[in-house]
Amino acid sequence: MNRKYIGVFDSGIGGLTAVKHLIEELPNENVVFLADTLNMPYGSKSKEQIIAYSLNDFDILNRYDLKALLIACNTADSAARKTLQKQTSIPVLGVIEAAARKACTVTENRKIGVLATPATVRSGKYEKAVHAIDTDIEVYSIACPELAPMIESGRNAEDPEVTEILMGYLKQLKDRQIDTLVLGCTHYDVLEKKAKELLPNIHVISSSACAIDDLKELLIRQDLLNADPEPERIYLVTADPEKFKKTASAILKNIEIDEA
Ligand code: DGL
Repeated sequence: MNRKYIGVFDSGIGGLTAVKHLIEELPNENVVFLADTLNMPYGSKSKEQIIAYSLNDFDILNRYDLKALLIACNTADSAARKTLQKQTSIPVLGVIEAAARKACTVTENRKIGVLATPATVRSGKYEKAVHAIDTDIEVYSIACPELAPMIESGRNAEDPEVTEILMGYLKQLKDRQIDTLVLGCTHYDVLEKKAKELLPNIHVISSSACAIDDLKELLIRQDLLNADPEPERIYLVTADPEKFKKTASAILKNIEIDEA
């Protein structure tokens, strides 16, 4: 039994969609989560800035005794995973490779769409991850600059403006005849139900859920599982805990949020 913490970070509430899956799949694990609300959104920043934020996120989480680090942010994964892995000997997992692998498994017509932040799209990491598996699969990535900040402010698929923006992006992907859609930003999981409704015959993939499948497999393989009946869950933010608590409640209820 390994009681060390799993560290998870994102720029904001998107990372909680990963924590939610983590709690469901690995209910006995101690978790420390950090949302870098001070610097959110990451998706509109330069690669250098995103690396600097991610290093700071890791430093905060590393105050705890960690056994694994999950970058629950496609944007940070695309810019900073290699840099972070160089800082530590614990395994550093991202979301992109996990989601790309799943997309390659489920696509039948070999056309995959990806909705992501501008920085993730610019990095080309989804294309790289898919083409490492199968070079014949076509990947259409669309940058959605407005969506993550809107979701972070508490807006969701009930909001007609959010739905309209989502529909516009999905139309472009439908025109490309994709049969698989990756929600390539953890914030977009909040729109997963709506995306499935709008694309009834298309596989919709959550990068958060795929990453937790990988994490579970890793913990089992490396004999790192915890069996604690009352595990500890710590939620930290770099700014505005009260505001975060309100929006976070749409994903996880009754959590205490502290300033890092
Ligand atoms: N949730 C993040 C992602 O998965 C980023 C949102 C942002 O800060 O722009 O890409």
